[in-house]
Amino acid sequence: MSAQAGQVEGAFRIGVLASGTGTNLQAILDRVHGREGIEVVGVASDRPDARALERARAAGVETAVFPPEAHAEREARDRALADWLAERSVDLVVLAGYMQLLSPEFLSRFPARVINVHPALLPAFPGLDAVDQALAYGVKVFGVTVHFVDEGVDSGPVLLQRAVELPDARTPDEVLAELRPIEHELLPEAIRLIARGAVSFDAANPRRVVISD
Ligand code: GRF
Repeated sequence: MSAQAGQVEGAFRIGVLASGTGTNLQAILDRVHGREGIEVVGVASDRPDARALERARAAGVETAVFPPEAHAEREARDRALADWLAERSVDLVVLAGYMQLLSPEFLSRFPARVINVHPALLPAFPGLDAVDQALAYGVKVFGVTVHFVDEGVDSGPVLLQRAVELPDARTPDEVLAELRPIEHELLPEAIRLIARGAVSFDAANPRRVVISD
């Protein structure tokens, strides 16, 4: 096994990026923030109206907005965002419904330290509207993936996955009602595992994430 993805002295500091309602952020705030040495030290969004920001403020967590229109190029915006996170000394960046692709330069600032939650069993149905894609395909098994973020779209190494059989599902709402509670369990669990240094990469196959007891 090679480099570990977490394990630092003192508090394990998390920055969360979210664009939407922020139910995954809420799960992080409720389940890991202030526990086991884990602290959410900042929540940033591309959207000033993201409900996630209200949730962060209600929990007393610092917030910031980096709207696309404030910068001529994505690279400049991501640089400002990375600076904001680095100023808060984050150990891990968690994408919880963040709807922007991050630049290679941003990712190089936080190597193997950016994770995302996706409502499908990757590598099936990456990108937007994963649940709609899965329904259109007619799958019988849906699921959730928590993965490390690389330069592709939902293509980084898989950390945690859980499947759910829904052979009769017809609408996105039906599927999401089953997937949301799984997301809210897996994302905090992934954070806990990384924070306690239980996550590493298989030297023989760096795509394979190894989780120790
Ligand atoms: C979740 O379904 C997540 O899988 C996807 O974006 C959604 C965010 O939901 N990446 P919320 O804002 O956390 O409620």
